[in-house]
Amino acid sequence: MAAGSAALLLSLLGALGLSDPGPLEDVVIERYYIPKVCLREAQMGDFIRYHYNGTFKDGKKFDSSYDRGATVAGVVGVGRLITGMDRGLQGMCVNERRHLIVPPHLGYGSIGVAGLIPPDATLYFDVVMLDIWNKDDKLQITTLAKPEHCNRTVENSDFVRYHYNGTLLDGTPFDSSYSKDSTYDTYVGTGWLIKGMDQGLQGVCIGERRRVVVPPHLAYGENGVGNKIPGSAVLIFDVHIIDFHNPDDPVEIETVHRPEGCNVTTRDRDFIRYHYNCSLLDGTRLFSSHDYEKPQEVTLGANKVIEGLNSGLLGMCVGERRVLIVPPHLGHGESGARGVPGSAVLRFEVELISLEEGVPEGYLFIWHGDPPENLFEQMDLNKDGQIPADEFSTFIKTQVAEGKGRLMPSSDPEKVIADMFGNQDRNQDGRITAEELKLKSDEDREKVHEEL
Ligand SMILES: *[C@@H]1O[C@H](CO)[C@@H](O)[C@H](O)[C@H]1NC(C)=O
Ligand SMILES: *[C@@H]1O[C@H](CO)[C@@H](O)[C@H](O)[C@H]1NC(C)=O
Ligand SMILES: *[C@@H]1O[C@H](CO)[C@@H](O)[C@H](O)[C@H]1NC(C)=O
Ligand SMILES: *[C@@H]1O[C@H](CO)[C@@H](O)[C@H](O)[C@H]1NC(C)=O
Ligand SMILES: *[C@@H]1O[C@H](CO)[C@@H](O)[C@H](O)[C@H]1NC(C)=O
Repeated sequence: MAAGSAALLLSLLGALGLSDPGPLEDVVIERYYIPKVCLREAQMGDFIRYHYNGTFKDGKKFDSSYDRGATVAGVVGVGRLITGMDRGLQGMCVNERRHLIVPPHLGYGSIGVAGLIPPDATLYFDVVMLDIWNKDDKLQITTLAKPEHCNRTVENSDFVRYHYNGTLLDGTPFDSSYSKDSTYDTYVGTGWLIKGMDQGLQGVCIGERRRVVVPPHLAYGENGVGNKIPGSAVLIFDVHIIDFHNPDDPVEIETVHRPEGCNVTTRDRDFIRYHYNCSLLDGTRLFSSHDYEKPQEVTLGANKVIEGLNSGLLGMCVGERRVLIVPPHLGHGESGARGVPGSAVLRFEVELISLEEGVPEGYLFIWHGDPPENLFEQMDLNKDGQIPADEFSTFIKTQVAEGKGRLMPSSDPEKVIADMFGNQDRNQDGRITAEELKLKSDEDREKVHEEL
């Protein structure tokens, strides 16, 4: 049966004059998979990266890139490959699959390759294209989304925090910041990044999304890196800028609202109450005083809040509202804090609720004029030669009420008076004697003498 039908086929071909078709004149190309999107077709002189299987007519494999565990990279169309491949690969898109039939004169001819390819062999190739680039390729930057306001853009030596997805041209992911659950943080334009990204991040603004396509000569070159980035690979980075700053940045202060007739403003040592919202520049809200019953309280200049917030709260009047942009070196630094990522720029909205004039550092109470000459006698209200805590407290409160002096402002004046009493009651017996009582200014003077 089988022999009979073969004979029939031959005679049919004979009738059509094709009984001896002879070797193929040219490569036969079957494009059996063409991707929907084809941004570029391989041209003569392009570098390409691909996988292939090579078989004989009977299906026997003579070579395969897969067996070597690596893709093949090279220049197409310039005679470095067998002519059949040079021709058969031209015009391919990334991810396209082709079946090629290469006649012997476009392959290894009548000589073949000793021990591998016999003379006059027709070769069959299955090829999938993975990468196309040219040594003249420049970086390609596409803006995917840009915020409405872009007051400032990245320049050399700025420090940027961004998220990214990295893929090869064929769509294989090689790396992503999201998998590490943290932004990628780095200086731009100072050689920390591959050349392509040092260039690709220039001029980007906060919140922007960009696609940066980096040819291998601006990435990891012919050798690639690790097991995810092959040699001669084009890299696609989709980046989303979270924030950036420069190590020289001061706090940025924008006054949103300033009440009229504002002539008393905050200074160092003042005790203030304020409301605030704190967020990252991408809008992520971190903290807010509105989550608590009462506004935040602080003594300015007492190292109780980050430096940037402290300076942003100076020169404010009650009722004023500001937006502060605090760079990390005036915030929580490179290591961040609980709930604050390292090197993050912070945005504060602040509103000053109240302000009490402070006293110099180290003082709990100051006189507005000269202190009374006979201080002990004045304090000893019942004239019994000693001053217990309640007498001391009554005296100090009277001075404050009469405007003769003021206490260090705090949320708990009783505590301040108790501390003052504790300082004066040097032997801690619950009462101050005439010998014990000393003004701080005199004390300081004595100390200076001792030191001298
Ligand atoms: C080559 O052969 C391997 C094993 O059969 C197969 O997985 C791979 O898809 C083939 N490659 C091409 C380009 O056809
Ligand atoms: C940019 O500047 C405008 C006007 O000066 C201001 O309203 C806006 O808030 C600024 N945007 C950012 C992100 O700083
Ligand atoms: C990265 O990929 C994830 C998952 O597809 C996506 O949600 C995210 O927006 C991408 N990021 C960028 C910067 O393109
Ligand atoms: C500003 O100063 C003037 C004159 O000293 C005073 O009358 C006024 O009450 C002050 N305003 C405020 C808001 O303190
Ligand atoms: C904080 O945010 C809330 C909600 O947006 C707003 O009502 C409040 O005024 C903000 N506080 C300050 C100090 O700006």
